[in-house]
Amino acid sequence: MAILEVEDLKKHFTQGDLIDRLLGRVRIVKAVDGVSFKLNRGETLALVGESGSGKTTTGKLILRLLEPTSGRIVFDGIDITRMREGELRRLRPRMQMIYQDPYASLNPRMEVGKAIAEPLVVHGRASWSEARREALEMLERVGLTPARDFYRRKPIQLSGGQRQRVVIARAMILKPDLLVADEPVSMIDVSMRTSILKLLLDFKREYNMSMIMITHDLAVARLVADRTAVMYLGKIVEIGPTEDILHNPGHPYTEALIAAAPTIVRGARKPSLRIRGEIADPSRIPSGCRFHPRCPYSDGSKCVKEEPQLAGASRMVACHYPLTR
Ligand SMILES: Nc1ncnc2c1ncn2[C@@H]1O[C@H](COP(=O)(O)OP(=O)(O)OP(=O)(O)O)[C@@H](O)[C@H]1O
Ligand code: SF4
Ligand SMILES: [Mg+2]
Repeated sequence: MAILEVEDLKKHFTQGDLIDRLLGRVRIVKAVDGVSFKLNRGETLALVGESGSGKTTTGKLILRLLEPTSGRIVFDGIDITRMREGELRRLRPRMQMIYQDPYASLNPRMEVGKAIAEPLVVHGRASWSEARREALEMLERVGLTPARDFYRRKPIQLSGGQRQRVVIARAMILKPDLLVADEPVSMIDVSMRTSILKLLLDFKREYNMSMIMITHDLAVARLVADRTAVMYLGKIVEIGPTEDILHNPGHPYTEALIAAAPTIVRGARKPSLRIRGEIADPSRIPSGCRFHPRCPYSDGSKCVKEEPQLAGASRMVACHYPLTR
């Protein structure tokens, strides 16, 4: 049973002021440009891709932290695409986000214990005294002990790893059904990354939670995700079981990402040709296959004129000439 269904989701940002409008200089940034996928209950999907591919925007759209331009988002059978904030409030505790920047997600003046307890009170789940007791338990649970000592600390008195444990505790105290974790370990010391990811996986198992793990790091995807979706310029270009994708990539862009991280998959196939240049400007999406200006396999004709659609069953690839053997 799907906890989340996303259909042809788009977010186009308009950039420019009134003068730009008058002079016809408005830029339409197609940050997310037609994303579709399903997420099952208890499943983890990794969203991977270079900087600027639209991962964070997709995560925020799914949780309705941004207004979609078009498309459809169905959460646990409920269409939330155009739901008003008043109605969404009821569902908010069930869908949580861990933001890309752990330093921006905690109020620097609030004791961290109170920050963890607060969502329970805000959503009417507990009184302050009950919430405080649950927050103390949660501090223990995420490894911040002695809990009474940590409860009173301010974010500035914590290391990056400890801060992220607080952020996780705050999201988990509501026992959400869906978590979007946006690069939760990218700003944390390498030595602590695995233990923090394991902590998230423990919560996931305990609550039968579904998770979208946004990461540019294929090692993180490999560690946590049942399936992986590879994004390029606002679109999913490949989606399927993580191990399958890593060992046998079907899209030239996936192959290039794997080749750029040689320690992730031992013996990974090296691309016969190298990809060129950098990700394009999302306000000037290339014609046909949006990857064609960088693709070493482009035929210079169909690839330039015709946009490939995601095709396949459990494993889907958007390429006219998929590499999958
Ligand atoms: N509010 C906004 N207004 C205009 N453009 C935006 C806005 N938010 C994001 N963008 C643009 O949309 C594109 C996708 O951004 P997004 O943050 O979703 O990418 P990302 O894959 O999360 O990248 P990163 O790996 O760097 O976090 C980028 O080109 C970005 O500059
Ligand atoms: S459709 Fe053509 S340009 Fe696009 S990824 Fe496939 S081979 Fe490369
Ligand atoms: Mg991002």
